[in-house]
Amino acid sequence: MVCASVILAAGMGTRMKSESAKVLHDLGGYPLIQWALNAGWEATGREPVLVIGPDAEDIRAIAKNQAAFVEQPERLGTGHAVMQAKKVLQGKSDLILVTYADMPLLRIETLKRLIKAQEESEARIALLTLISDNPRGFGRIIHNNSGEVIGIVEEADATTEQLEIKEYNAGTYCFRADWLWENLPRLPKSVKGEYYLTDMVAMAVEDGGAVASVIVDDEDELIGVNTRVHLAEAHAALQRRINSQWMLAGVTIVDPANTYIGPEVALGSDTIILPNTHLEGKTIIGSACRIGPNSIIRDTSIGDRCKIESSVMEGAILEDDVDAGPFAHLRKGAHLMQGVHMGNFGEVKNSTLGPGVKMGHVSYIGDATVGDEVNIGAGTITCNYDGKQKHHTEIGARAFIGSGTMLVAPVQVGEDAITGAGSVVKHDVPDSSLVVGVPAKVIRKLEQSD
Ligand code: UD1
Ligand code: MG
Repeated sequence: MVCASVILAAGMGTRMKSESAKVLHDLGGYPLIQWALNAGWEATGREPVLVIGPDAEDIRAIAKNQAAFVEQPERLGTGHAVMQAKKVLQGKSDLILVTYADMPLLRIETLKRLIKAQEESEARIALLTLISDNPRGFGRIIHNNSGEVIGIVEEADATTEQLEIKEYNAGTYCFRADWLWENLPRLPKSVKGEYYLTDMVAMAVEDGGAVASVIVDDEDELIGVNTRVHLAEAHAALQRRINSQWMLAGVTIVDPANTYIGPEVALGSDTIILPNTHLEGKTIIGSACRIGPNSIIRDTSIGDRCKIESSVMEGAILEDDVDAGPFAHLRKGAHLMQGVHMGNFGEVKNSTLGPGVKMGHVSYIGDATVGDEVNIGAGTITCNYDGKQKHHTEIGARAFIGSGTMLVAPVQVGEDAITGAGSVVKHDVPDSSLVVGVPAKVIRKLEQSD
């Protein structure tokens, strides 16, 4: 059966008390809306229809090319919101999956289970429910004496008795499309003046149709974000989910409550992640590494057996057996080849450090190519910027850069060359020569080490 998906995101999100739309708030590095779009696509295999409010330019910008947009001109409730999708979807599918954009942790498998339950039953609506002691403001599921679902009552409209019900509406439904489009316009206005999608359940039953329900066991999946307290709950739940997955895959996470791993990160087995480490974006880390504590690693690729301590890395590549930190800073385009050692307070940007380079302390290497086994003394700086443009520095294999050397780019230091401590290198240094002074001059040709 063809199933189309409708995602509701036109609500005001007033309970967030925010200048920005609720669905643009971040969860694990991505706005809430992104989670809903991914789920809609993956559960149905087609482009979802996204219902947004007027003036939602910021949401349109993020969801561009990921959804067909439909505008709800006035926020008249969830039923009214789905109604807006009728003109683009009527006659196009057998089933309609409706999700709310504020439920980021719903699993694709759960949505597929719901669609399957609908396909295999005669029901007009299949819905997800949750049984729990924490109502979180959810609508209550009303059953008849035979245990069949006959309605949903919103918390605000519930009687004291109904408030005691412990089965809740997750806000995720799969409808028979033709029945939905035909009957949606019949929704009554609630006391609040809104058209509740949840009232479709009672309507289906009154018309003599059945309603199927699928109970979700993992409460975390159904955290609906209405307030920032819920958002924090969603963060904690996501973290638990991702960290458990990696621990079961062979990664040691010493303190899962204080380790933050993004959904797109990949980790190799026997790697150890120490507390207060943030792995973000498309970071990939190999096997048997030791990462952290206190590190932030974003969009960085790290090989096997690397050791990173209290460092910040962004857009960098580290090959196998690299160690960095404490307090290393790698920026975009930093490429540390096999076995590089980078000690404390170093910064590398847009530069390649060849195999075995040692850069122990307090140096800045920017826009440079550094050959194999070069030793970079403490306090070395590539002076890559002349106030207008960036310039390149090249250091040949096995060169020894003395402490406090200023390499005024563009400049080249030859292979096996040595710069004395405190040299200001403004001119190219030939291979196997020793330069010293300000500006640095060749004072001796060195014996070839063959
Ligand atoms: C809703 C359900 C409730 C359920 C809960 C689960 C209704 C009436 N109530 O309550 O039974 O337990 O979700 O999370 O459906 N929206 C629009 N247009 C509108 C109003 C809302 O697009 O006019 C969107 C919102 O952006 C949001 C979603 O619909 O993504 C749900 O709205 P929200 O206000 O969060 O409803 P809840 O109070 O959470
Ligand atoms: Mg909600």
